[in-house]
Amino acid sequence: MLENKSHLRKQFRQLRRNLSAEQQKLASRDALQTVIKYQILEQANHIALYLDQDGELSCTDIIDWCWQNGKTTYLPVLDPSRENYLIFIRYAADTKMRKNRFNIPEPVISSSQVKAVPQLDCIFLPLVAFDETGNRLGMGGGFYDRTLAEITSSPVKPQLIGYAHDCQQASNLSTESWDIPVHKIVTPSRVIST
Ligand SMILES: Nc1ncnc2c1ncn2[C@@H]1O[C@H](COP(=O)(O)OP(=O)(O)O)[C@@H](O)[C@H]1O
Ligand SMILES: [Mg+2]
Repeated sequence: MLENKSHLRKQFRQLRRNLSAEQQKLASRDALQTVIKYQILEQANHIALYLDQDGELSCTDIIDWCWQNGKTTYLPVLDPSRENYLIFIRYAADTKMRKNRFNIPEPVISSSQVKAVPQLDCIFLPLVAFDETGNRLGMGGGFYDRTLAEITSSPVKPQLIGYAHDCQQASNLSTESWDIPVHKIVTPSRVIST
């Protein structure tokens, strides 16, 4: 199981890293068009996204669109008080950033800018591979699984959207008890509702 997972991670990370800068740019734009066409963010005002790394589908076009459309955006930040959990911090054009231990830029934490997970309308999750039923394979840290485990008992739940290149679709991902599936997958070419 573990070996299979790490093999899949290697394989699908390579696929997305093989995309050229031009393909990445087009994919980001097309994925925003999918979001608009299928009205994914119509009802959402508080939206968490991520800054791409390792060939991930970029959220920069959606972030710009959110700012132009009066929506408030957030980014995941490693929780300084709970190891391997995420918190979400408001992200605006003038937000001060720093690099975390994975070298990923994140907003500098300020208590007034923290948004509790149940108060988010929508979370865009990066992923390494997905399948047609909304199962998600991440980079292997389990950060989103851990952080989102807590909302399963909350009456208010954000929409979880896996955001990925079409080449990240796997035929059938096996899952473990702690894996949190997403409600929708959005790619540059389509939406899968699970
Ligand atoms: N809710 C949780 N509580 C504690 N540990 C967790 C939880 N969710 C995931 N983990 C741990 O995180 C690790 C990575 O999870 P995994 O699902 O393989 O990664 P990813 O979701 O990034 O693909 C696992 O070893 C798992 O035990
Ligand atoms: Mg997982």
